[in-house]
Amino acid sequence: MSKLIINIKELAQIRDVKTSFVSASQMNEIPSLKNAFLLIENGFISDFGKMSNIPKGKHFEIIDASGRTILPTWCDSHTHTVFTGSRSDEYIDRIKGLSYQEIANKGGGILKSANQIQKISKNDLFEESKKRIYDLIKQGTGCIEIKSGYGLNYNSELKMLNVIKDLKESLPIEIKSTFLGAHAFPKEISKSEYFDLVINKMLPDFATKSLVDYVDIFCEKNYFTANDTEQLIKKAKKYNIPAKIHVNQFNSIGGIKIAVRNKAVSVDHLEVVNEQDIAELKKGSTMPVLLPGCSFFLGIEYAPAKKLLSNNIPFAIASDFNPGSCPTGNMNFIISLACNQLKLTPEQAINGATINGAYSMGLSNISGSITRGKLANLLITKNIESLNELPYYIGDNLIDKVLIRGREIL
Ligand code: NIG
Ligand code: FE
Repeated sequence: MSKLIINIKELAQIRDVKTSFVSASQMNEIPSLKNAFLLIENGFISDFGKMSNIPKGKHFEIIDASGRTILPTWCDSHTHTVFTGSRSDEYIDRIKGLSYQEIANKGGGILKSANQIQKISKNDLFEESKKRIYDLIKQGTGCIEIKSGYGLNYNSELKMLNVIKDLKESLPIEIKSTFLGAHAFPKEISKSEYFDLVINKMLPDFATKSLVDYVDIFCEKNYFTANDTEQLIKKAKKYNIPAKIHVNQFNSIGGIKIAVRNKAVSVDHLEVVNEQDIAELKKGSTMPVLLPGCSFFLGIEYAPAKKLLSNNIPFAIASDFNPGSCPTGNMNFIISLACNQLKLTPEQAINGATINGAYSMGLSNISGSITRGKLANLLITKNIESLNELPYYIGDNLIDKVLIRGREIL
């Protein structure tokens, strides 16, 4: 049945169908309509406008949104949401002063998560992940990218990708799958043997099974080099698979240049960025994805968001939800952090977490804005005075209802 939402106090983030992402200067604005209606047909936004132009004479289910603001759902373009167990012991070690690398050297870090993934059955991993994502949907996430990378051997990476595939089929939101076999090195084989396995066996097999929407690699000192990154991106191109790359989290080692020149869709993290990296970003159309939750949780530097904006470089904001560096996927909190710590205005943060997030996972044709023909994936807020209140009330999700494909998530 069609649904008509009436008396919307503010219908926010209205964008033209041609807008696949917004530029740095366009990030300053959230175009909106006051006192609006929105019509949903077959799960899609079919019309919207001023209340004075409300469609008449048909049978609609009516939702009265008096006093409420409506936004598109959050588009979280960088997560590691398929994992099992927690790493809360590392949290305590970190509070006591150990660094990310010291924790990894002690047997924690990515290898610990890999150990946990290797032991769990596919079905249990699916159930645990499904519940976790369902909680995220209730917090307003309507599109999500999920990476493998805690398998670190053929069977476990395959298990993770198959879980992501099953999640795509059983959850109502849009999910993109990223193969991150090159996330760390397992202890059992040499670094070169493992990397060879990733690019010459896992990637071809998983791509052929249609399990991979994107490839990723942890381009970082002690992990993978810029040269490894280029090899992976080039190999993935043979299968028409674009790249989203972990770069510049702790060190700038040339990954941005390689990613931009090879037309990666996104470069993610960017806590440590130098002038050459900025110059490279200006040359291409690769979208930076900033992850303030990771800086907050690890206590590392925040990405220089204002510097990117002053260089006319737009970006997306995502959660990086994972058990090691950001154990939350709550985008409401991430947007608050983006405002508080990256010093973004709510408009800039919301653009980063909607349309530019959608672009960073190839979904801006169907999500990320209020546009006729896009999915009716909507947030109906509680009674708020302005969008400023969303990040202002830190830790308090001011969402009343979430609609996915026009259906309320209960
Ligand atoms: O994006 N930096 C690499 N990968 C994750 C962290 C993984 C982990 O510690 O489990 C990240 O922060
Ligand atoms: Fe990550």
